[in-house]
Amino acid sequence: MDLKEKIDSLRLPKHIAIIMDGNGRWAKSRGEMRVFGHQNGVESVRQTSTAAAELGVEFLTLYAFSTENWKRPKCEVDALMSLLVQTLNSELGTLMENNIRLKAIGNINKLQPDCYKQLLETMDKTSGNNRMDLILALNYSGRWEISQAAARIAAEVKAGNLDPEKINQDVFESYLETHNIPDPELLIRTSGENRISNFLLWQAAYSELYFTPKLWPDFRKDDLYEAILDYQNRERRFGMISEQIK
Ligand code: FPP
Repeated sequence: MDLKEKIDSLRLPKHIAIIMDGNGRWAKSRGEMRVFGHQNGVESVRQTSTAAAELGVEFLTLYAFSTENWKRPKCEVDALMSLLVQTLNSELGTLMENNIRLKAIGNINKLQPDCYKQLLETMDKTSGNNRMDLILALNYSGRWEISQAAARIAAEVKAGNLDPEKINQDVFESYLETHNIPDPELLIRTSGENRISNFLLWQAAYSELYFTPKLWPDFRKDDLYEAILDYQNRERRFGMISEQIK
């Protein structure tokens, strides 16, 4: 039985989030420039997105560019931005064929203008698709998201539109980038690093974390299936005890 057949389709995570890491090391180990790793990471994005959609996963969020990534050498930032523009353009067919809607979270209007424009265009063209939402986290960090939510809530209170007594977790969540998106049940990070790195800090409160030594450009459909199978073998207790779950 292959890995895919072992997956219990009735207990699939609705939302999977991935920290795609290891592109630079993958390229370096081949004596290539870092950007070569990012370019090869695109095939992993394609394979993972189509595999998730085929399985019936409803939301897939990929950490593509963090607010901290601006600190990288300018040539790498520029290369990442143009790769994004190019990929959004060339992968429109894959998104349409697989009925995938593209969305984004993050401070996207601060992306380079051509990148922002291409992103809006691809989101618009795929807006009628409804098999899976592919959410790119771009110019995103969890602390940025939480602090901008707090600032917007404070402004609403100041304007007299929101009673501070009414602020609870549901209200707070409605100010996050991910409002209307369920929390990820499974969060995967590649490349052997065991950190969350400012990704979905609020939303990952109860996510099952899965770390794999695979570098992102080597990540394929079977790696996603393995992560899901591992998730399906875990017991999620949300603070309760085992007997309460059963
Ligand atoms: C982390 O590897 C990866 C990134 C910061 C960028 C991810 C981008 C892609 C996979 C390219 C295309 C993406 C889309 C959505 C079309 P790293 O550079 O930090 O690797 P290292 O830790 O080995 O240096």
